[in-house]
Amino acid sequence: MGHAMKRYFQIAIDGPVGSGKSTVARLVAERLGWLYVYTGAMYRAAALAAMNAGVPLSDAKAVARLVSEAQIGMSNPVGREVDRRPTTLLLNGKDVSWEILSEEVSKGSSVVAVHKEVREALVIKQQEIARTKNVVMEGRDTTFRVLPDAQLKVFLTAREPERAKRRHQQLLERGEDVDYKQVLGDLKKRDERDSNRKVDPLHVVQDAWVLDTTDLTVSAVVDKILQRVHELT
Ligand code: C5P
Repeated sequence: MGHAMKRYFQIAIDGPVGSGKSTVARLVAERLGWLYVYTGAMYRAAALAAMNAGVPLSDAKAVARLVSEAQIGMSNPVGREVDRRPTTLLLNGKDVSWEILSEEVSKGSSVVAVHKEVREALVIKQQEIARTKNVVMEGRDTTFRVLPDAQLKVFLTAREPERAKRRHQQLLERGEDVDYKQVLGDLKKRDERDSNRKVDPLHVVQDAWVLDTTDLTVSAVVDKILQRVHELT
């Protein structure tokens, strides 16, 4: 009966802090003309929705309900939206692309992200997005939880000092005055926490392509991934 459903191409990009996954995912999506799905933005939107509704971030069920009922739209920035934002995110029709990047929302996002119910609600939305178009989806759980059947799974990594250097550079560019040693220490702690947490810890799935970017430029990494996509399509 009926027609076979078209299966869209899914690229899932995972990796630790400072592996370059956001930059790489965005550029790969841009080059292919596919949707870049920044899953972190959705955790941020969940926190913002709760804050706006006066729902405590600790209330897993209430936040999850808000998320399920919310309309979260993501698109690659076009026209006037091209203002260095990582993605365009509409929360119930309102453009909150910049609001979700605030420090307050950042903190809130990692609070709501620990709730199983919230994660489930967001994963459903992420999977719905990937059913309707080709995507380059970036996030800590994309290779095994969100898109376990992705045609291409990339685990980006780099040696620790290099990742700390990149993270340090990023913070300096944002005007944050921190020293390299502290950044390296924080990164080690965060790696440790991300790898050992109970729910969806950072790990390399068996069918992932592990790409060490320590000695590669961003554009070299992007080209390698594009080449692999062309081989697969
Ligand atoms: O990537 P970003 O730092 O913007 O993500 C914000 C927060 O959302 C993270 O600190 C993390 O707690 C959570 N997150 C998550 N799973 C994802 C993406 C983000 O738990 N796939």
